[in-house]
Amino acid sequence: MGYFKVKNSILNGNVRISGAKNSALPILAATILSSEKLEIENVPDLLDVQTMIEILRKIGKEVIFENNKVTLNGTVENHVVPYDLVRKMRASFNVAGPLAVILGESKVSLPGGCAIGVRPVDYHIMGLKKLGFEVEIAHGEVYIKKGKKEKEVIINLPFPSVGATEHLMTTAALMEGITVIENAAMEPEIVDLQNFLNSLGAKIQGAGSRKIVIEGVKSLNGRSYKVMPDRIEAGTYAIAIAATGGKGYIEEIIPEHLEILWEILKETGTNVTIEKNRVFVDGKGKKRGININIQPYPGFPTDLQPQILVYLSLADGVSMVVENVFKNRFHHIDELVRMGADIRVVDGTAIVNGVKKLSGTKVEGTDLRATAALIIAGLVAEGTTEVHNDFHVLRGYENIVEKIRHLNGEIEHIV
Ligand code: EPZ
Repeated sequence: MGYFKVKNSILNGNVRISGAKNSALPILAATILSSEKLEIENVPDLLDVQTMIEILRKIGKEVIFENNKVTLNGTVENHVVPYDLVRKMRASFNVAGPLAVILGESKVSLPGGCAIGVRPVDYHIMGLKKLGFEVEIAHGEVYIKKGKKEKEVIINLPFPSVGATEHLMTTAALMEGITVIENAAMEPEIVDLQNFLNSLGAKIQGAGSRKIVIEGVKSLNGRSYKVMPDRIEAGTYAIAIAATGGKGYIEEIIPEHLEILWEILKETGTNVTIEKNRVFVDGKGKKRGININIQPYPGFPTDLQPQILVYLSLADGVSMVVENVFKNRFHHIDELVRMGADIRVVDGTAIVNGVKKLSGTKVEGTDLRATAALIIAGLVAEGTTEVHNDFHVLRGYENIVEKIRHLNGEIEHIV
């Protein structure tokens, strides 16, 4: 396993943001529904994307991935997705419904727990049952068999789960009658998935609101589609530039996707200038602490919680960050404390007492965003930091070393 060697740096310059991982994954899973030629553009070249492509190949699709474009042909033929692929990435579970729609059945391993806490799939299963599927869980696998769907089905999610909203919306696209998802997640990635499916002939409306209405169609066509920019990658670089006291443009993004982040950065003392599809961040000067509530969209994203904690570690005063999405997503804090941060966790709230400096040491990333946060900590800390478990970051940040170097950051990937 490799690691990143990061030195104290000030990030300056412009960074171009890649296509969104969390859009590309459900869009790729949704390609199961069409047997025509599809071209998906602006797909980031990441480990998670490679895993999804491996799954699609395993179940019978012809897939070519070149220059950030995925070209797909053919129909799915195999209904089994083995554990070794689902284990690598939880989003793999989202192929279960679409696969059973096309083949009448599917068998997908249950995704395991992961470092950001318990992540069950009970809402997915509840929704699939409402859509008429028989669901059996045995030996760590979920077996799904198509049954009879009622003409109008209402699925009310207990929590606006991103994955369950995407999975059920995709599954229902080719199922007769109307499906309504209530208390749906409103993340921009869900709007992107709706746009993709509708571009193939699906009839879905309401994505981006709490209620999504899907009118089943008989088949989907082929065409090309461009994945939206990655708002979490954009937010990570914005926080990194601000935390190091540097300045620069975050380019080729949709600034409205991160309104809450721009507000938080401004309120804490970073200058932010929003333009049409780029944002200028200037982190010169002192920062102030602030309280943040981590919430589903349009709230502050859980996927930027570890990174903003690094930023707040060096801000004046006390900040409280309440995690309402993944209650235990705080493993990075132990490592930040080893670097000199003063953070305590009490009942799902991180209480940060700003310190004057962090100092470099050896640390271990526990998940994708936690590892990205430790890289930011390495950039702001005195001396050199070794961030171990490099593979987490390679799951979700395209060309991270090149991008940080382009911003004048000192980082080396040791493999
Ligand atoms: C998606 O995960 C993202 N992944 C995550 O990004 C992100 O952190 C998360 O949404 C929240 O925004 C992808 O899009 C591929 P959820 P997902 O279902 O869909 C509970 C990253 O770093 N829940 O919205 O798995 C769950 O435990 C990743 O890029 C159930 O209880 O998240 C959590 O507390 C990590 N039962 C909450 O809902 C279920 O059946 C939200 O989870 C489903 C979810």
